[in-house]
Amino acid sequence: MKILVTGGAGFIGSAFVRLVLERYPDDTVTTLDALTYAGNRANLSELEQNPRHSFVHGDIADVPLVDGLIAGHDAVVNFAAETHVDRSLLDPSAFLRSNVEGVYVLLDAVRRHGGRLVQVSTDEVYGDIPEGKFSLESDPLAPRSPYAAAKAGGELFCRSFSISYGIDVVVTRGCNTIGPRQYPEKLVPLFITNALEGRPLPVYGDGLQVRDWLHVEDHAAGIDLALRQGRSCEIYNIGAGNERPNIDVVRQLLAHLDKSECLIAYVPDRPGHDRRYALDSTKIRAHLGWAPQRDFEATLGDTIDWYLSHPEWWQAIRNASGEFAEYYERQYGWRLAAAGRDEG
Ligand code: DAU
Repeated sequence: MKILVTGGAGFIGSAFVRLVLERYPDDTVTTLDALTYAGNRANLSELEQNPRHSFVHGDIADVPLVDGLIAGHDAVVNFAAETHVDRSLLDPSAFLRSNVEGVYVLLDAVRRHGGRLVQVSTDEVYGDIPEGKFSLESDPLAPRSPYAAAKAGGELFCRSFSISYGIDVVVTRGCNTIGPRQYPEKLVPLFITNALEGRPLPVYGDGLQVRDWLHVEDHAAGIDLALRQGRSCEIYNIGAGNERPNIDVVRQLLAHLDKSECLIAYVPDRPGHDRRYALDSTKIRAHLGWAPQRDFEATLGDTIDWYLSHPEWWQAIRNASGEFAEYYERQYGWRLAAAGRDEG
């Protein structure tokens, strides 16, 4: 199969590219990535000499570029997106462009040229889930952040194109994903790297919000099954069943690193913060035979160990003069000083 992976230089996208090239010797992959702040060529560096992989620098909202690329592929798997809730609260406009307009451009090209589109979406489209309930694919969409609203908008375009034009689209909705190469703005990589630098860990509100944690390679495997065996027009939840309150995750992370809980700093809550996400993944498990290969401890442990053994990767991002430092100061009001603790 010839697969176009959009956003393939990002966190989950690059894990998916590696998985395909390792598992399927007859497949070829083209990665299209705009290399915005979270896209990183270093995530694909070991594939530079691989004759079955090629890289194109560009934007999914670029109509002629996308049109030309899709014509030569059997399927598109779309990871390209703005993904961070806190950034969507600071500036929603980029989310509209990538997560809605970009998806529309991909769909329109698939309409002209054929092939399957897998749209990688998120459990956040369901919104806040009360205790005891688990989101099913048939549940209504109730996004609450600009990020989640934009992802829901992209999904609705997928639905409308499959109904109106009969194009072949499959949607996956994943839970919180961790593992190697995640940009250190998200809870787990931010807290690992802050702890390693002796900086405070900013826990929003009471820290009792609940998320379900999945390893990136397990997530990529679920998306791969959806691509190859998923039914057209269907949606598949991909959840690990590892529900944990944030503060438990943070304590476990500090214990694994042998760092003091004194680093925990409670800070004002995220506006509109969803209290809990929880997915019912019966469908992908029963219909496609998916199951995560790691439990929560192995998922978190593997993530921490990767950051411990790859300081060059995250230190390059956290360089005090870079994009990350600007965002960090804007979001937390803390400066990334060159060395030692900041004023948090
Ligand atoms: O559920 C899937 C989603 O998971 C993905 O669609 C998103 O792209 C991804 O960002 C993630 O969303 P969250 O908002 O749940 O992830 P984040 O790592 O930002 O936050 C996880 C939890 O930790 C959430 O309850 C907010 C909290 N948090 C986060 C940060 C960055 C803190 O308490 N402090 C922080 O500094």
